[in-house]
Amino acid sequence: MLNENRIDMSIFLKNTSYHGILLEMLFKDSEYKRETITLMSEGIQNGVVCPLPTTVFSQQSLEQGFRFMTTGKHIGKVLLKIRDEEPQKCMLPMRKTIAAISRTYMYPDKSYVLIGGLGGFGLELANWMITRGARFIVLVSRTGIRTGYQMLRVQQWRNNGIKVIISTADTTTLSDVECLIDDSNRLAPVGGIFNLAVVLRDALFENLHVADFETVISPKVNCTRNLDVISRKSCPSLDHFVVFLSTSCGRGNASLIMVLQVQL
Ligand SMILES: NC(=O)c1ccc[n+]([C@@H]2O[C@H](COP(=O)([O-])OP(=O)(O)OC[C@H]3O[C@@H](n4cnc5c(N)ncnc54)[C@H](OP(=O)(O)O)[C@@H]3O)[C@@H](O)[C@H]2O)c1
Repeated sequence: MLNENRIDMSIFLKNTSYHGILLEMLFKDSEYKRETITLMSEGIQNGVVCPLPTTVFSQQSLEQGFRFMTTGKHIGKVLLKIRDEEPQKCMLPMRKTIAAISRTYMYPDKSYVLIGGLGGFGLELANWMITRGARFIVLVSRTGIRTGYQMLRVQQWRNNGIKVIISTADTTTLSDVECLIDDSNRLAPVGGIFNLAVVLRDALFENLHVADFETVISPKVNCTRNLDVISRKSCPSLDHFVVFLSTSCGRGNASLIMVLQVQL
């Protein structure tokens, strides 16, 4: 119509009427505007003016709502219902709780200490924490880097600007744990301590010696106790204190020395 094109008359066979409206006439106060408002209000009240057709999705169906809209096949409005109609016209909105899936993030300005961090789980955990924002990682091992894979992972993180320290502190002694935590705090305040250290001495009971139990228990019990004592006084910013254990500690396997879970 704007280009003064002809309209195909066949569309009027459907009993359709077309009205041209100058919308800008409604922006300034005028007799015309007042009359339009009166006509609209009366029309809404007596049902002559109908709202556009709507398709309503609940807030839990947000994704379906967007998918429906992007198909471009709908007529009218696609609405998301946030809350039920309220009884009064004017009222304070009620408090609304919205379900969300929480996601764990690490602080980029805190350090994270992983005892046994060069082991299988340790390297994976460190990588996961880096993907979640950690920038300072302290990996504790009795021997330090021994395998090409450990070297590869550490080198990749360092190339990406992550500060990775390899410590050979003996965490079964209180004094070494104190030094370890002090060093880590100097890097950045310690935000997490994870004890993944494990030593296996599996054998049938009759073949086990007291020394085997002591070897297995030490990285779990002694390390954890030392870390607990020192972190209580030296880690005011601590968010995570996690001790890794196997589910077999509750049920047991034949020939596996088990350490009961230490609840802190
Ligand atoms: N893998 C599994 O299927 C499984 C299943 C359930 C639970 N878990 C638990 O997950 C944790 C990690 O297991 P994982 O599979 O990663 O074991 P892993 O590959 O054997 O790693 C454990 C690491 O602990 C280190 N370690 C031992 N004593 C230490 C000490 N005193 N100080 C510092 N580091 C010490 C060892 O490194 P160095 O020799 O270099 O010191 C070793 O690399 C363990 O607590 C384990 O019980 C594992």
